[in-house]
Amino acid sequence: TIRAADLKKVGGLATYDPGFVNTASCRSAITYIDGEQGILEYRGYPIEQLAEQSSFLEVCYLLLNGELPTSDQLAQWTHDVTHHTFLHENIKSLMTGFRYDAHPMGMMMSSVSALSTFYPHASDISDPENRYLQITRMIAKMPTIGAFAYRHSQGKPYIYPDNELSYCANFLSMLFKMSERDYAADERLVKALEVLFILHADHEQNCSANAVRSVGSSQVDPYSAVAAGIGALYGPLHGGANEAVLKMLRRIGSTDNIPSFIEGVKAGNERLMGFGHRVYKNYDPRATIIKKATEDVFEVTGVNPLLEIAQELEKIALEDEYFVSRKLYPNVDFYSGLIYEALEFPPEMFTVLFAIGRTPGWLAQWQELVTDKEQKIARPKQIYTGERQREFVPIDQR
Ligand code: ACO
Repeated sequence: TIRAADLKKVGGLATYDPGFVNTASCRSAITYIDGEQGILEYRGYPIEQLAEQSSFLEVCYLLLNGELPTSDQLAQWTHDVTHHTFLHENIKSLMTGFRYDAHPMGMMMSSVSALSTFYPHASDISDPENRYLQITRMIAKMPTIGAFAYRHSQGKPYIYPDNELSYCANFLSMLFKMSERDYAADERLVKALEVLFILHADHEQNCSANAVRSVGSSQVDPYSAVAAGIGALYGPLHGGANEAVLKMLRRIGSTDNIPSFIEGVKAGNERLMGFGHRVYKNYDPRATIIKKATEDVFEVTGVNPLLEIAQELEKIALEDEYFVSRKLYPNVDFYSGLIYEALEFPPEMFTVLFAIGRTPGWLAQWQELVTDKEQKIARPKQIYTGERQREFVPIDQR
């Protein structure tokens, strides 16, 4: 409980806003969201057009530079990213040292923070050329780290990057290749992965972007700041909902069981996972695009029987007064887990995929932060509710 006397101690006017529900922590020109209308734009371009027409690396360039690249700029950017995909052999050794059952997100977070020791010059964040180099490196190395973490969990040898391949085809190859000749990713799967990465590339001041900005505001190097973002994403309230959707669909098991499941949700026994959003009070625009990508992926992999349950669940919920009156619609996580499962990713890898897609967003937020002269170190106020001015009691008298 907050007492009037506590408020006086804050020192001047202050808002008490746990979780920054109603407080803008920064100015930003990167991502625009209108949750009531279901609109998401990167640098003013609608997400639907970007998912349909651009590549992930093009979207990275857009988020970081504010403009779509010309073909020369895109060629240079693709060249620069592609030439930083390899990891130092000692990062590989670091990853090998993890336990066989280490969570790939924990491995990724540690490996990214370790990169700061391999590139100590990264701490010179005032030099634009140096910033560009570190940003390029990080976008390039994230799929390699994600794939190595996956192969480690499978007990399989690491597959090195193939820089003849596109960003997403290279990632799929590092994940799934078994020998020199046996793997060429299906173009439809490559496209689906591009779309998933584009949809996850930024979402303005979400928990992990806020973590990157908060840690970055101390002017630490970008690897340490992004490692903080990965830590935030690791948490189940942020990056883990798609796994919960899959578990829920499996538990429902058949479309016949949907009505009784919905009754349980309405009675408050549990939540319909993958539905509802703090910002979107309309259909999450990313969910519409993922639904389409799901169909494309299933053309290659065969239909996941859980899709029928998901579709029927969505149909019933969208006609039900409980969900309509609360403006609860499918969010990005409702269908993404189905795609990841169809691609044969174990659930622990779902958040790793999210992190790879979100890296350009974290870096764009970080770059905007460190180049904004008005931005100060993140240092919120508190409302102190503890004791004051107590006399120390020697241990033998307590
Ligand atoms: N199923 C059933 N009822 C729900 C759901 C749901 N998924 N989400 C919200 N509600 C109900 C609440 O019970 C509440 O009802 P009441 O007014 O009768 O009490 C009302 O809708 C408002 O809910 P809040 O919890 O206040 O909404 P909030 O904005 O705080 O929560 C959240 C948003 C956390 C996403 C919530 O909708 C939820 O838990 N959804 C399921 C988990 C999920 O899918 N998370 C992924 C989000 S997307 C992402 O992080 C990338």
